[in-house]
Amino acid sequence: MQLRCFDEHCGTTLALHDPALACPACGGLLEVDVAATSVDAQALKKLWSERRSSRDPRDISGVWRYREFLPDYAASEVVTLGEGNTPLVRGHKTAAWAGVRDLQFKHLGWNPTGCFKDLGMTVGMTEAVHTGAKVVACASTGNTAASLAAYAARAGVTGRVYLPAGQVSLNKLAQALDFGAEVVEVEGSFDDALNTLLEKTGEGIYFLNSINPFRIEGQKTTMFELMDQLDWKAPDYLVVPGGNLGNSAAFSKAFDELLRYGFIDRAPRMIVVQAAGANPFAQLWRDGAEELTPVSEPETVATAIRIGNPRSWKKSLRGVRATGGQVLDVTDDEIAEAKAVIGRDGIGCEPASAATLAGLRKLRASGAVIEDASVVAILTGHVLKDTNFIIKAHQREEAHAHS
Ligand code: F0G
Repeated sequence: MQLRCFDEHCGTTLALHDPALACPACGGLLEVDVAATSVDAQALKKLWSERRSSRDPRDISGVWRYREFLPDYAASEVVTLGEGNTPLVRGHKTAAWAGVRDLQFKHLGWNPTGCFKDLGMTVGMTEAVHTGAKVVACASTGNTAASLAAYAARAGVTGRVYLPAGQVSLNKLAQALDFGAEVVEVEGSFDDALNTLLEKTGEGIYFLNSINPFRIEGQKTTMFELMDQLDWKAPDYLVVPGGNLGNSAAFSKAFDELLRYGFIDRAPRMIVVQAAGANPFAQLWRDGAEELTPVSEPETVATAIRIGNPRSWKKSLRGVRATGGQVLDVTDDEIAEAKAVIGRDGIGCEPASAATLAGLRKLRASGAVIEDASVVAILTGHVLKDTNFIIKAHQREEAHAHS
């Protein structure tokens, strides 16, 4: 394995554990080049299945179980909280609301810190420790911060999180504090917080935002686990919310590898859903543009995806195009309505996750998705991640009922 520049015109390669944040030749994003030689897909499927009854912490983790496709570390180095292993849950009211017959949610909010970030953080933190890092940091809309804080505590290193002041759910901030992270508040948006952090290169800080290719490797295993759960048969559609576009970038890479090495013969069409007030990727898609124009003042109630300048858009776009998918956006009202329906199915999620269901309903209404389509929607965060949003929504409902 090695690191490779994602820009195909560049293709610069680096040693796997090179600490570079970006390609030294062109500044592009890096990715881990798995470059496996002899892969016996049938044998690996069997091995991964057998590992479910093992007591090795790496086998129990729904990330490290698939370690043949991850960088190799000594068992003692792996920083894990038993992440992954999230179920597929069928939603009946939600399916009816969206207008499809076959809808399942893969609830990544049922991870150790209540969000999908743990899937990438276990690999990112393991790599950080492997390279001797003592301080790890990220900019975050809240969830990455909570996850980084937990895994840094497990690893015994200092965790530092850069948050947009006053724009992070208190539940997420509370997690970061509970896990002992140092919190730095930055005036402005997530994009400002990330820029502030990126200026700190050379100060001995290991960066754990999703531009870190090791985070992407961990998040990629979500699709290994999903396909494993579906007996390696892809649904027609996979719907995922998009903010900084790290998760959809990771899924793109997973499909590429799963197809290339013969684990699946077809990938689902990947649909990325953004919030209308923070929709640079949806705009790019609508306009058929080749370059992303950032949204300078992103605004949405789904604070997790309040991001105007997503860094991983090129990686995400590769997957959307390769799978015949698409990108769209939904309004805050649509997100709130979808979230309430997910709650009524006894599942629950945070607002950003509900963008998936809202997006699916919109695609059904336009006829782009047919009623008989099979759909897996990714729920990214737990219902308790943003309790203020829920309480406020119900207070508004009460006030409305009495007016
Ligand atoms: N859903 C939730 C709950 C999130 O926290 C995020 C991103 C996304 C969706 C979007 O994922 O960025 O990979 O496209 N949260 C980041 C954070 C930015 O800092 O916690 P993405």
